[in-house]
Amino acid sequence: MVSLVELIARKRDGGELAPEEIHRVIHAFMAGEMADYQMSSLLMAVFQRGMSDAETVALTEAMLRSGKVIDLSHIPGIKVDKHSTGGVGDKVSLSLVPIVAACGVPVPMVSGRGLGHTGGTLDKLEAIPGFRVDLDVDRFAATVRDLGGCMIGQTAEIAPADKRIYALRDVTATVESVPLIVASILSKKLAEGIDALVLDVKVGKGAFMKDIDRARTLAHALVRVGTRAGKRVVALLTRMEEPLGRTVGNALETREAIDLLFGRAPADLVECTEALAVEMILLGGKAESRERALAMVRDSIRTGSAARKMEKLIEAHGGDPRVVQSTDLLPKAPLVETVKAKASGWVSAIDALEIGLCAVALGAGRTRADQAVDPAVGIVIGAAHGSRVEAGDTLAELHVRSGQQADAVRDRVAKAFRLESAAPAPKSLVLERIES
Ligand code: URA
Repeated sequence: MVSLVELIARKRDGGELAPEEIHRVIHAFMAGEMADYQMSSLLMAVFQRGMSDAETVALTEAMLRSGKVIDLSHIPGIKVDKHSTGGVGDKVSLSLVPIVAACGVPVPMVSGRGLGHTGGTLDKLEAIPGFRVDLDVDRFAATVRDLGGCMIGQTAEIAPADKRIYALRDVTATVESVPLIVASILSKKLAEGIDALVLDVKVGKGAFMKDIDRARTLAHALVRVGTRAGKRVVALLTRMEEPLGRTVGNALETREAIDLLFGRAPADLVECTEALAVEMILLGGKAESRERALAMVRDSIRTGSAARKMEKLIEAHGGDPRVVQSTDLLPKAPLVETVKAKASGWVSAIDALEIGLCAVALGAGRTRADQAVDPAVGIVIGAAHGSRVEAGDTLAELHVRSGQQADAVRDRVAKAFRLESAAPAPKSLVLERIES
């Protein structure tokens, strides 16, 4: 049998590993028979040399099989989830699950926490008093069966190899490798027991992928590998230059996501949510056309069925369902300070990365995985992209615990807004759609 060192050397020299060799590597690593330094050097070899689709499929499957694969086959219907590569103000999942579930498509969703400048769905859900994201796998499956949706955090049982490999990638400069990202994302998503997946690959300053070519490469690879792994996969490339919607910060974002269920949300957030919901409903086989799927989404809001579904989901997670009708029950920061425009002009850009980093500085996010977040603090965008402001108008609100906290980010938030003398051209949020 070829040794681990020989496999590492083959990858280093640009050769290809057979599927069974990749399975052996992951098995040896998880069994403690392959040292961290050997895995690290293999990761660097993959980073430099890449992987074929066959290798990436094998890596995805080996990582998936390192843990438990949830079986939802007893639940009728095509189970569809959505994954976003992460952005600033991206609270889409919170409204998407009740909307799509209300349209009859079961949505099993395993989400993550915020890290760095991007927020996480779990932190936003936990802003709801009592909400538990740690339901066990049996409760998760039962909730998907009974309510058509459930939103939990990654458990230690789901793709444990990803957790260990990601920790090595993080400290060996090997995170930004397309095959490693693809295997990492898909191993976790395929473990949820889904039949189909919609990917929201964010592009721009506030995203993991800053330019469209790299985002497109990642999206194509995710779609190809997911399809080869037997799932139906569609990816949308969406803009992440400005924060999505008007709020950044956990309870503020949860409130905005609930407002969307009542038809009160900014156009960009509505566009993103509708586009993803339409794809999920089509993959779920509940509509025969895009127009019909969109009508179903809008009906779920008009008739209140999505809001009622949200109440039931919150209840199933141990949370207080009254927040849906009274968002005032969500945590609130004691102080709201404003950031004013120093000059007049049209808002031509709002730097999502800088707004995300300022929200982290206020305590809304974390720079280390073990940090706690403050659910109440955050930033509300007062002057949206494309709007006209006069000197002295509010650009943003800072929801803070103290004046000192506000002072620490005030100038940075102001500078994140670019004002120009002409109105910017309106930009579509959805840039491209990719399917196999
Ligand atoms: N998100 C993941 O889950 N994994 C990666 O490797 C990158 C982004």
